[in-house]
Amino acid sequence: MHVLILGSGGREHAFAWKIAQSSLIQNLFVAPGNAGTEHVATNVSLDPNDFKTVKKFVLDNQIDMVIVGPEDPLVNGIVDFFKSDKQLSKVGIIGPNAQAAQLEGSKDFAKQFMFRHGIPTAKYQSFQANQLKEGQTYLETLKAPYVLKASGLAAGKGVVILEDLAKAKKELKAMLTDNKFGEAGTTVVIEEFLKGVECSVFILTDGNNYKILPEAKDYKRIGEGDTGLNTGGMGAVSPVPFCTPEFMDKIETQVIIPTMKGLKADQIDYQGFIFFGLIKVGNEPYVIEYNCRMGDPETEVVIPRIKSDLLHLFEGVTTKTLGECDINIDPRSAATVMMVSDGYPENYEKGKEISGLSEVQGSLLFHAGTKKSGQKTITNGGRVIAATSFGLNIFDALDYSYEAAEIIQYKGKYFRTDLGEDLKKFFKEK
Ligand code: AMP
Ligand code: GLY
Repeated sequence: MHVLILGSGGREHAFAWKIAQSSLIQNLFVAPGNAGTEHVATNVSLDPNDFKTVKKFVLDNQIDMVIVGPEDPLVNGIVDFFKSDKQLSKVGIIGPNAQAAQLEGSKDFAKQFMFRHGIPTAKYQSFQANQLKEGQTYLETLKAPYVLKASGLAAGKGVVILEDLAKAKKELKAMLTDNKFGEAGTTVVIEEFLKGVECSVFILTDGNNYKILPEAKDYKRIGEGDTGLNTGGMGAVSPVPFCTPEFMDKIETQVIIPTMKGLKADQIDYQGFIFFGLIKVGNEPYVIEYNCRMGDPETEVVIPRIKSDLLHLFEGVTTKTLGECDINIDPRSAATVMMVSDGYPENYEKGKEISGLSEVQGSLLFHAGTKKSGQKTITNGGRVIAATSFGLNIFDALDYSYEAAEIIQYKGKYFRTDLGEDLKKFFKEK
């Protein structure tokens, strides 16, 4: 098969690394890719949101399957573009259409979907620019902390949680009438704060059948002890100690099955990944958010734990025969540590030379923001490289990843050293 992966992060490098090992692969391309994907595939310099250029490349290179990594091409309708084009309609594409991608693209849509189908989630109301007063009155009915979310895509930055009612009212005004998050914030979802521990659960679906992938927990904040600004993700572990078989059963019956039935009832055809951002409140799972793609950096621990041929599973999705495929999971634990650029998630410098890459042994290095400059590999983003390792348990795996993160050098390297600490208390449960 000739396969094109769209995207340039650690997630896409992990996909490329895995697919390069498939017995079905003939030619693998990543667009635009990074310095890591170059080792397992051919990088193609094109923008995943420029559908016409993607089309030309797909036809010129007889691509059989396209795997869409990030959410924006999906929300922008790349799947619809493929399905409605005579020349492209036979090309398999992994990802949902624009309507289905609204599960991530519009938090208001996702909340309505969950309420319509009885999927547990925080209670909420949505407000638009002309409803500032109503929104502020609704805030008064809630208890602190106050959760305000820009409904549209805001690259993970659209959620604000505040302790103080006056500040929450001011923030609502900034979002609704002062365009703080631009278009994404023209509708704001205000919801009840849920207290609990979070985890990420993923399925791959062909619209009828689904496979549950290994669950993971990511670490979103920049600082030790989960403090400071939200980032794309500073690391991840899989499995998650509190995701016992009993809790995973609850997730399947209370969240996954109702989501699949809800999609059917609403006549939404969904092919691809569904990422359930969950929070465990007491002993019950609640959905914080849906994403229409895999998580990053969760992919960097989930994909290495899948032993089955990923392309074979993807073929099951595009031919709607996923029910006939088996998925085999590595029982070992995996952990990934994300190395970032000093200053991230705010301003940071690029172009720093990275050394030590070839000295790392026993860990997988998934590149995120890197590129080649002659013979050198240089930093090219806030998140730079994820080091993934296997271990007997997540702490063992984390130790190996920290060793790898010490070996890699570039000016301004930073990574968190407290990943998994919050999970020690659950460890005996699993
Ligand atoms: P989201 O972009 O919706 O995943 O939200 C980002 C982060 O904000 C989540 O990972 C949670 O840590 C937090 N968060 C979002 N909604 C809630 C909520 N209703 N209660 C508590 N924390 C939340
Ligand atoms: N790691 C969270 C996300 O990919 O949205």
